[in-house]
Amino acid sequence: MSAPAVVVTRRLPQAVERELATRFGARLNATDEPLGRDGLVRALREADAVVCTVTDRLSADVLGAGGLRAKALVNVGVGFNHIDLAAARAAGLVVTNTPDVLTDATADCAMTLMLAVMRRAGEGERELRAGRWAGWRPTHLMGAQVTGKTVGIVGFGRIGRAMAERCHGGFRMPVLWFDPAIPAGAEPAGPWTRVGTLDELLAQADVVSLHCPATPETRHLINAERLRQMKRSAFLVNTARGDVVDEAALVAALEAGVIAGAGLDVYEHEPRVHAGLLALERVVLLPHLGSATVETRVAMGMRALENLEAVLAGVPPRDRVA
Ligand code: DGY
Repeated sequence: MSAPAVVVTRRLPQAVERELATRFGARLNATDEPLGRDGLVRALREADAVVCTVTDRLSADVLGAGGLRAKALVNVGVGFNHIDLAAARAAGLVVTNTPDVLTDATADCAMTLMLAVMRRAGEGERELRAGRWAGWRPTHLMGAQVTGKTVGIVGFGRIGRAMAERCHGGFRMPVLWFDPAIPAGAEPAGPWTRVGTLDELLAQADVVSLHCPATPETRHLINAERLRQMKRSAFLVNTARGDVVDEAALVAALEAGVIAGAGLDVYEHEPRVHAGLLALERVVLLPHLGSATVETRVAMGMRALENLEAVLAGVPPRDRVA
């Protein structure tokens, strides 16, 4: 049996898998088990392109294994911190991602977390399901009003701006943003205010929502000191990447009441979640669901297919990141 031109590392929505199989003869992963280090090396040695996801650790060790046939890593996802881009370049691999198509779903997820943690929805649901709800009472599970509170957005790219639009348009929230990657003069126009430093944003925001990529510069951007700069009544929302927050410091801050609560979709050591977070009431924890709508996951798959087709045809793909 000849080697497949394309290997797909995880299960994808049916419509996407159908296209991958019929148009590219791709080898799919029916078990959905992550391939692991050796499986990834094998895939890179066998196929012209590997369609991968955030759960595949494409480290220098994997990409430097030698004897690779693959010419492309086609990532289904916008974030690519799981891929060592320098090692990919050194191995002659083109890397692509899927921007744009998941912007709305991810911003919706950030809104879900913000609303849920501020209105204590997780606590309420747990109480009700456990049969502990004794009925309405005026002081029961009083949360924080969302409407009109100030949101501070860290990372003002596509998803950060989509969050800003929702907060401003839907909840009349003043929006502050911080993003050193946006040069002066290139600020996106809109009803929001740029702040010059992260310190300013943290001191003023009632909700801090993270939308920056995971890079060496943003690793543990939110650490113990930064958490202390936030208001004691403030909430942290993270739909970006777990590495951006020092998870142990966040647990300590929540335990000590340094901030009021957190809504998290991503974690430092996925799928492991810090035991301290699991034990806390005033946090809402989702299992990396940012882009998990049927429409968005299909759109991500189709966008990856477009990139795959270009790479295999030898033309520049739309979403090349390396
Ligand atoms: C993304 O697209 O980056 C999502 O987090 C899934 O990888």
